[in-house]
Amino acid sequence: MRRRIVAGNWKMNGSKDLSEKLVGYVRSETGSLDNGVEVVIIPPALYVGDVLRLAQDAVSVGVQNVGRWQSGAYTGEISAEMAKDAGCRYVLVGHSERRQFFGETDEQVAEKVSLVLASGLAAIMCVGESLEERESGQAETVVAGQVRAGLASVVRAADGRAWQNIVVAYEPVWAIGTGKTATADDAQAMHASIRGVLEDMGAPAEKISLLYGGSVKADNAAALFSEPDIDGGLIGGASLVAEDFVSICRYFPAGA
Ligand code: 13P
Repeated sequence: MRRRIVAGNWKMNGSKDLSEKLVGYVRSETGSLDNGVEVVIIPPALYVGDVLRLAQDAVSVGVQNVGRWQSGAYTGEISAEMAKDAGCRYVLVGHSERRQFFGETDEQVAEKVSLVLASGLAAIMCVGESLEERESGQAETVVAGQVRAGLASVVRAADGRAWQNIVVAYEPVWAIGTGKTATADDAQAMHASIRGVLEDMGAPAEKISLLYGGSVKADNAAALFSEPDIDGGLIGGASLVAEDFVSICRYFPAGA
């Protein structure tokens, strides 16, 4: 049975006030879910402490990025070890906004995945094609390349248990924040393809959770989550609206 995860990525949004209002509500509304979903909140790093206090262990917490180094003179960066020390469980790695606005490369993504695993946290590694790549029929090739490159260090690790802390999020760039969602069929096809790549890399592919992200809303989550290879969602905009986020968490078919 794969872990089912619904994670809210707040991106550069939120405040102490939003944390107070949203996290307590999410905690109380999702505490009794019977569909086995692990709810994760990934706020800006400054609010991790507040979110952890409000989540009271009922909701997992993550950070949106970590530096490529263990520690030292890297002003502005936070490390995977710090995220662990602060009480986080997850780290997003290689989000398309990091790749697009901060020039993050596949090699850097691989370095970060390696540091996250070394710290004992789980990495949610993001992959996804641009609109141009989809329209030119390159989507599966591009995504397969990102999966192979980003997880290269896991393949090299002597300890196969490292895969237990890997989650892959498929987020087509053209669907992020645009209101355009991949159809459930297209998302399923890509997830099946990613699982095939993982298998080919020697990973225990059937045990690795694959999340879909890109304009997931309360009205399209149920269709996406009923696909066999979609094990959860990475939610941007809708995770900032407490009722919407809770609805999305509830849309997993119970016990499936
Ligand atoms: P939206 O849900 O706002 O499209 O964002 C998706 C995303 O990038 C989550 O990481």
